[in-house]
Amino acid sequence: MPAIPSDPNPDSSLALLADGYTFMAKRRRRLGSDIFVTRLMLRKATCIVGDEAAEFFYGGDRFTRQGAMPPTTVRLLQDKGSVQQLDGLAHRHRKLMFMSFMTPGSIQKLVDAMVDQWNSRIPTWESMDEVVLHHEVQEVLCRAVCTWAGIPLSEQSAKKRTREFTTMVDGSGTVFPQTVWGLLLRARNLRWAEGVISKIRSGHPRVPAGSPAHVIAWHRDLDGELLDTKIAAIELVNLLRPTVAVDRFVTFAALALHEHPECREQIVGGDGDALEHFVQEVRRYYPFFPFMGGRAMGEFSWRGHHLPRGSWVILDAYGTNHDPRIWDDPNLFRPERFRHWDGSAFNFIPQGGGDFATGHRCPGEWAAIELMKGAVRQLTTAMEYEVPLQDLSIDLSRMPAIPKSRFVIGNVRQIEHEAA
Ligand code: HEM
Repeated sequence: MPAIPSDPNPDSSLALLADGYTFMAKRRRRLGSDIFVTRLMLRKATCIVGDEAAEFFYGGDRFTRQGAMPPTTVRLLQDKGSVQQLDGLAHRHRKLMFMSFMTPGSIQKLVDAMVDQWNSRIPTWESMDEVVLHHEVQEVLCRAVCTWAGIPLSEQSAKKRTREFTTMVDGSGTVFPQTVWGLLLRARNLRWAEGVISKIRSGHPRVPAGSPAHVIAWHRDLDGELLDTKIAAIELVNLLRPTVAVDRFVTFAALALHEHPECREQIVGGDGDALEHFVQEVRRYYPFFPFMGGRAMGEFSWRGHHLPRGSWVILDAYGTNHDPRIWDDPNLFRPERFRHWDGSAFNFIPQGGGDFATGHRCPGEWAAIELMKGAVRQLTTAMEYEVPLQDLSIDLSRMPAIPKSRFVIGNVRQIEHEAA
């Protein structure tokens, strides 16, 4: 079998931190190959890209997530004992619990909760000279998802929880000091979540039966046992934290509306699919989740290259979403490209690919899409605002990325709609 082209650096961890989202693309160009081997944190890693690579990565039970990410990233994003760290039947059983929160009715309630929170903040934004949208939307989403999950937050707790969730996400792809800060706040956040689970289990009357927090607290694993309190807390956080992280997509959506005013017109003009295509293009075009890692559970070959059991394989999600063989002019923001998208589970993977129930594809994908649509409706029909001069550049070496200014708006005015 042909040898896999190899990055000559003895270790490329620092280069990864310097190049960020473009790390793999640069090396693919240099080596002229869709697959190459590099060393990260002194471990051999095989990097792949494209729809066939995504099918290989997500299309069968080939890769475990155990030992597939740096330990700090795992702890800040999913954590030990979480659904993502499970395989086989145990994974499917736990995943079903997550998918049970994602019915259309349940997602609509989440979006309604977000719209309520958003509308209640507009009068405050009207009185502010400058509103940092990224930060405001974080708190809106945090209050909304906690209310939806059955655990409405007090004023003080809403601020603390928002800080914890967002700091964890912010520190997940970087190094000191953000990572350390993320880990410290994660510890406080888990203590809070463990308290929530314990209260529910001791019959706390204000958490409604059937609400997501209640379901997680009373979930039984395949062995029929309740989850350990800590694991239940981890899964509660795994529902709440990434929902708050949708604020990044919302911030990018606001940026796209600003930079492409014609999109705003199409959305407001009521072109039926314009909103859907717009949010999909935001998820494709802007940098969020850079890559996914897995460790081979058997011996495999891909495109004639041999991958022994235990190989660490990294799929370039950002690279696949910008692959010119899949997307014409991938570096142009063009929502109408989604008119002709074939709906493949492997060529558009901002939140993973493959099957939701049996694989590791993100269970929150539909919720993220609907929350983004709700937020874009708010930005286009519930309020007017100005966008002052600011640094809107996006540093691709920073993972996860965000516009430098965090998207500042001013002169916010609520749009009054006449009662029907
Ligand atoms: C904010 C936007 C989001 C992004 C960019 C994102 C990204 C991802 C990605 C790429 C994966 C797959 C990782 C892998 O293959 O190992 C994943 C898995 C996961 N996501 Fe999300 N996600 C988002 C929102 C959400 C939401 C709203 C939820 C709430 C339910 C969620 C919960 C999870 C969980 C529990 C997993 C693990 C699934 C499994 O291993 O089977 N995510 N996410």
